[in-house]
Amino acid sequence: MIFMDSQELHEILQNTGINQVLYYSETGSTNDDGIRWLDEGAVDFSVIVSDLQTTGRGRGNRKWVTEPGSSLAFSVIFRPVDAHTPLLALYSPLAGLVVAQAIEKVTGLQPQIKWPNDVLIARKKVCGILSEAVWDGSRLKGVVLGIGINIAPSSIPPSDQLLFPAACLETEAGNPVDRWQVLNEVLLGFRIWRDQLGSQRFMDAWQERLAFKNEVVMIKQEGQAPTIGILLGVNPQGYLLIQTADGNRVEIAVGDVHLRLVELE
Ligand code: BTN
Repeated sequence: MIFMDSQELHEILQNTGINQVLYYSETGSTNDDGIRWLDEGAVDFSVIVSDLQTTGRGRGNRKWVTEPGSSLAFSVIFRPVDAHTPLLALYSPLAGLVVAQAIEKVTGLQPQIKWPNDVLIARKKVCGILSEAVWDGSRLKGVVLGIGINIAPSSIPPSDQLLFPAACLETEAGNPVDRWQVLNEVLLGFRIWRDQLGSQRFMDAWQERLAFKNEVVMIKQEGQAPTIGILLGVNPQGYLLIQTADGNRVEIAVGDVHLRLVELE
């Protein structure tokens, strides 16, 4: 479906409680737009959606390709209350959780979350999340949660450009997927879960979907030797818990971290 304007998309999303909606047929990056919009006064729980991104960004300054009509690329703007500042690191898992639940609702598939936030189906990535905080001095002004979901096969970049195997919803589900229905469910999910950020219920729901639990994984962090061990789960702060071969428990904070499954012979 091609949208004429933001108003039409706003009407489609009205039951989600979203406050402001911007739709672009083409933009650089919806996260860059979101950061600018925050500065210009975007209200809490607003969304920017684009059919095509020419300078889409992934984590670690990598490129994120968004071909027209093939995927869902959007950024949700939050203006958290001050009490939520210590929970900032949980915004990207929040996005992972609501995307996983939305995909399940629309397709019946059972997505998992590769810590901290990538959404996987059958161990392949279908969604990437880029959470960016905007500060006003030491005060958290807002969070821009950028989400890219692969809908159709043409959304998947060539394999030599992938850090991790990728898939799309339509191939995994075996039928067409309405991306606006997925967006609708994602926004409804934010409405439900954002106030429960950091609660036991939230941590349990995230942990239930954690991929590679009790399997051997390798964690790579910039400038550090890789950590290899059994993935146990997450602690109350959202750190990943790994049990290494010497019996130690290592806690890994959210950052530019790469998590890989270790194939055992
Ligand atoms: C990753 O897995 O590296 C994160 C990818 C995040 C991509 C989304 S698409 C919408 C938003 N705009 C961007 O430029 N990036 C995010």
